[in-house]
Amino acid sequence: MYANVYITPASSEQKDDLQSILLVDDFEAHLELMTAILEGEGYRVMASSDANEVLKGLKAGGFSPDLAVLDVMMPAMSGYELCKRLKGHYGKRYFPVILVTGLAQLEDKLTGLEAGADDFFSKPFNPKEIVAKIRSLLKLKMLQDELDHTEDMIFTLAMAVEAKDNYTRGHSERVSVLSARVAERLGLPEKEITNIRKGGILHDIGKIGVHEDILHKKEALSKDELEIIRRHPATGTEICKPLRTLHQILPAIRHHHERWDGHGFPDGLRGECIPLMGRIISIVDSFDAMVSIRPYRNGLSVDEALRVIMDEKTAGQWDPFIVDRFMETVNSGSEAIRVLYGHK
Ligand SMILES: [Fe+2]
Repeated sequence: MYANVYITPASSEQKDDLQSILLVDDFEAHLELMTAILEGEGYRVMASSDANEVLKGLKAGGFSPDLAVLDVMMPAMSGYELCKRLKGHYGKRYFPVILVTGLAQLEDKLTGLEAGADDFFSKPFNPKEIVAKIRSLLKLKMLQDELDHTEDMIFTLAMAVEAKDNYTRGHSERVSVLSARVAERLGLPEKEITNIRKGGILHDIGKIGVHEDILHKKEALSKDELEIIRRHPATGTEICKPLRTLHQILPAIRHHHERWDGHGFPDGLRGECIPLMGRIISIVDSFDAMVSIRPYRNGLSVDEALRVIMDEKTAGQWDPFIVDRFMETVNSGSEAIRVLYGHK
């Protein structure tokens, strides 16, 4: 029965809404018992005695469980290995895995945790205990999925706002790519590089609150219109603030228009008081704006824009140290940068 993947038969429309649990164990009597317990608790079960069949089915998109309970000792593939592969399959998305084993040594537990397992149960275990653990991990997964979903929506919103505008289409993507390159050049840790990449995408999301007539105006902006434009870093911060997962990116959104000499906005921060991600995005943002066509002027070539930046290096807009790292980044990858800017 379990050589392929057994899936709780759909007996009503509601079944599709059930949370589903993947069970993998080479001992069929255990599968049968656990399947009965979990179906009795209202879960949909996907059960198999063959780890390879499970991986094949997942890759083919045949089923999509919310959590896995894996036996450790299996002949074709250990539960540790399967756990690693499942975690790899889901990548950044949270996918909880419980390992079950007859082994009760601390070392086995450590191996399980190293494989990425979220919990470890030794046989014989109390079914009520494992059901309680499943319930709490699924709750955690639901919260995590909601957060991921909201974060995805904000990124989609940022891209959608920009895609509407002929003049800024692709701007955030380019700022994101180039800022991440500068961050790599600075030797920042991977996590910070990722944050800067995300910050590049979201830095102008606050422009959602600025009317297109102002964004596209060819003539000089009035004092009031300038004031509205200058609000976008604060508006963007307010949009992203409620999302805990974006907290580390907020400095990029709020501070990408600060100036090294303290005359920027919205907070007039000066020098190293400006968060590093703000200082990096500020220069890449300016460079991208210079080479882009705007309603009121044509774009510069890449070389012209680089000359302007070098000429202005000590004029007070940017951190001179970051200007040098930016120039190194562009010069070391000049062909790729020109591709990014359509060989300008
Ligand atoms: Fe901006």
